[in-house]
Amino acid sequence: MTTTTTIAHPFFPYMGGKRKIANWIHSNSPETFRDYYEPFLGGGAIALDVLSREPKGSGRKFYLSDYNPEIVAAWSALKETPELLFSILEGFFAAHCREHFNAVRFWDRNAVLEQKSQAERGARWIYLARTCFGGSLTTDKSGFMKASYAYRHAGHAGHAGHSDPDYANMRAVSELLNAFDVTITQGSYERVLNTAGFGDFIYLDPPYETTADDGHEITSNYVSGGFDHGVLAENMNKMTALGAMVLMSNADTAPVRKLFAGFACVRPDHIWTVNGARRDASEILVSNWRLADRLTKQRALALAA
Ligand SMILES: C[S@@+](CC[C@H](N)C(=O)[O-])C[C@H]1O[C@@H](n2cnc3c(N)ncnc32)[C@H](O)[C@@H]1O
Repeated sequence: MTTTTTIAHPFFPYMGGKRKIANWIHSNSPETFRDYYEPFLGGGAIALDVLSREPKGSGRKFYLSDYNPEIVAAWSALKETPELLFSILEGFFAAHCREHFNAVRFWDRNAVLEQKSQAERGARWIYLARTCFGGSLTTDKSGFMKASYAYRHAGHAGHAGHSDPDYANMRAVSELLNAFDVTITQGSYERVLNTAGFGDFIYLDPPYETTADDGHEITSNYVSGGFDHGVLAENMNKMTALGAMVLMSNADTAPVRKLFAGFACVRPDHIWTVNGARRDASEILVSNWRLADRLTKQRALALAA
């Protein structure tokens, strides 16, 4: 198979996407590791970056997952049935207008969604993400999709127009997912990490920690029910004890610094975008490298053996 891996990038816009800091995250990632885990996949900016750099025939396994079943449907359909996904997407974009947008969006409110195929669900997610106001999809407290029709969206010439998906990029992503041993699953990060262990590299990009006044509340509701960073810290300790290498992005807040105080923290100097608003960076990378320094040396020797 001929791959066009150099152009593979996220195929739907996503709040908190890490494409702009992929190089920086790469420079803070381990050079040698066993299998790769990314259990907060979202738009998958880092997963695609890691896969794009992967040498052919490495034999490494990639475990990509997310709690949101619609995101998983989009990734799985692109891996397994790309042409079917593209034909459904073409139909959606050909029919695009406010009424069509709302009809597709409301599949989750009248029990239609459960009857749809993986490709239909995946196409719905990509279509709504590319056409909704603000370019980001989340769910409300009841688990229903929050999105409103945008008169203009990325690439629009005007109200009546629309930007087609980048099918060349999606083909490149599909080829990349099939060029390696990639497993895509739906589930909580805790369940997915059950199989992770010694020598594995785990990149964590959870919903960011929020405090009342830190301005990050907009990123807190990817899924209904909120997110417990204390439990995440416990899991990071568990992964450290097992000898896995963990790198986590999070908001640079006092609670995060306290919860992850035993780990190494790096603060980037970059600007990031939330729903189109540029703001000064206030996030950090947390890793268990320093804690695991001694282990890392043993691990490198074990992997080289
Ligand atoms: C910050 S976003 C990830 C963004 C991604 N790194 C990117 O570049 O697009 C966080 C993701 O975590 C997922 N998520 C939230 N709670 C989760 C949980 N308990 N287990 C697994 N995934 C979860 C959300 O659905 C969301 O896609």
